[in-house]
Amino acid sequence: MNAKQPVRSSGGITGLPPRYCSDPTIFDLEQKHLFPSQWFPIGYESDIAGNGEHFSFQLLGLDGFCVRDDHDQLHCFRNVCRHRGTQLCPVNSSGLGTVPEGEPCSDNPTKSSIVCDYHGWKYGLDGRLIAAPHMDNTPGFNRADFSLYPIRCAKWQGIIFAQVGGGQDNPTDSLTEILHPLNRIVEPRGLDQFQRKKTISYVIQANWKLLFQNFNECYHCPSVHPQLTPLTDYRDAENEFDTGPILGGPMRIRDDADSVTRDGDYCGPIPDSLVGEELKKAHYYTVSPGFFLSLFPDYVMVHRLSPLAFNQTKIDCDFLFLPASGLSLPTGATAWEFWDQTNLQDWEMCERVQRGISQGNFSPSPYSPLESLLVKFDQHYRQQIARFE
Ligand code: FES
Ligand SMILES: [Fe+2]
Repeated sequence: MNAKQPVRSSGGITGLPPRYCSDPTIFDLEQKHLFPSQWFPIGYESDIAGNGEHFSFQLLGLDGFCVRDDHDQLHCFRNVCRHRGTQLCPVNSSGLGTVPEGEPCSDNPTKSSIVCDYHGWKYGLDGRLIAAPHMDNTPGFNRADFSLYPIRCAKWQGIIFAQVGGGQDNPTDSLTEILHPLNRIVEPRGLDQFQRKKTISYVIQANWKLLFQNFNECYHCPSVHPQLTPLTDYRDAENEFDTGPILGGPMRIRDDADSVTRDGDYCGPIPDSLVGEELKKAHYYTVSPGFFLSLFPDYVMVHRLSPLAFNQTKIDCDFLFLPASGLSLPTGATAWEFWDQTNLQDWEMCERVQRGISQGNFSPSPYSPLESLLVKFDQHYRQQIARFE
């Protein structure tokens, strides 16, 4: 196939100085000044379609849960009882690896409240403490002072995002403003109708920015992902967004494949609105600092990043599908089998970069034209962190 190759340039710009990915004090700055006011995806509205339903999540090392109240409002709270600090929703003991997402918190059968397993304190779905057994005569105790700790959350196209440090008085860019440029791409597909079918979780021994850089170039695809070659041409990526925080664009799916799956065939229903050229495109976007969005004709893939240390990042990779025949979700296994293999190939390379740049002096070469988005990612990041260095 002779794909039309986009013209692009990296302008001879060299890569991000390695200390930004290997120096713990830089990560401390990010934790203190960048991450608290930025939006990270945590789950989906369709995970908690019914009132009183909730799911647990981990973000930046903090346990939280998200609940839909009786008025269809979403709330996120820290996963900690205000009495003696018990976790309200179960999460695995290591705090890393696979989180039992979607696990219910302890609650009463009517799902109208959240009850702590330890001493039975009971919270409304809006976080207010509504019952605390044997506390009425405790001097200085006032139920109103012991609501659950809120975590700011917002939704975009069915995806729920949270901001762990966003206190009520911490001004921040609105989620919908940040992601607005993507609306014209995702709205015609009805992204908010897609439902999560599968999540695969990884803990990668690499800095979060190395993972962003890796996802923004396909220069490595021929050598690292031989299984991608029959499906897309690595030179065929379009830089639709190239200023940050959103980067990326479409790639053409080769004529003899339908989708990016293990066998190249569709594995889920295709939105009615997808016609013509759009049926032959895979779209790949990254939104700093925690969101990769990949759109295929028949499914959607979301990578949710949670930076844990200067050299460690948790990623949850979700696979979303349109429900077939109104109710059931398709199998979709050929999508996640393909991407689990591809993800692991990527993570290995990112971990090897992390180890390489962490040892002795290293100064990177100029970027290739195929790495032009990395120039933009680095610039956007440097602008953000410069205020705090
Ligand atoms: S710690 Fe939750 S009720 Fe005591
Ligand atoms: Fe890759």
